[in-house]
Amino acid sequence: MSRLKIGVLISGRGSNLQALIAACAAPDFPAEIVLVVSNKPDAQGLDHARAAGIETATVAHGGFPDRESFDREIDKHLKSSGAELVCLAGFMRLLSTWFVETWHDRVVNIHPSLLPAFKGIDAHAQAIAAGVRLSGCTVHIVRPEMDAGPILVQAAVPVMPNDDEDTLAARILEAEHACYPLAVRLLAENRVKIVDERAVMMTPEGRHRPLIFPPTE
Ligand code: GRF
Repeated sequence: MSRLKIGVLISGRGSNLQALIAACAAPDFPAEIVLVVSNKPDAQGLDHARAAGIETATVAHGGFPDRESFDREIDKHLKSSGAELVCLAGFMRLLSTWFVETWHDRVVNIHPSLLPAFKGIDAHAQAIAAGVRLSGCTVHIVRPEMDAGPILVQAAVPVMPNDDEDTLAARILEAEHACYPLAVRLLAENRVKIVDERAVMMTPEGRHRPLIFPPTE
């Protein structure tokens, strides 16, 4: 089986990276991580990568005159690693149009809300402030605009009455760790087509119950 080679970009904790590392450890998973790049030298996620024997690189954004030259350096690392798909996993830099177009349809991101609701860095606070009963997470193909692009996988997660940003973030994070490997699998198995800026794929038929919160009984 030939496995899709992925490069993961991180800035911090790296729990989604860990979920991807764990998924890739299964012999039948159709992708492998060939490189992890961080813009922060002390990102915890780099330790997870090293522990798994994955090549790492640090590209500190401070040393570049503009966003595109920083992105070009990241691109160099990715190209020389042989990466075919780029996974943003808590990467806190907005990528340039140049990068997104160079890797057109081959950059994915995970965001802790049901997009297109609550874009931006404070998605959990926005969900609590809006009083929604359900929030969740989204894995999507990256476009130059922040938190936009064809949606691959979403999970809905209840917002509890007493939630603060941390408790909601923890509940959503658990769903993220299931969604990201699933999205990578769908792409690696060539089960997704982008048509008119929507990700089209065949999903199993059958009855799907609505998720209602609060529960009806
Ligand atoms: C996650 O909540 C992800 O959705 C967002 O940044 C966070 C990264 O967490 N883009 P981690 O570094 O993967 O633990």
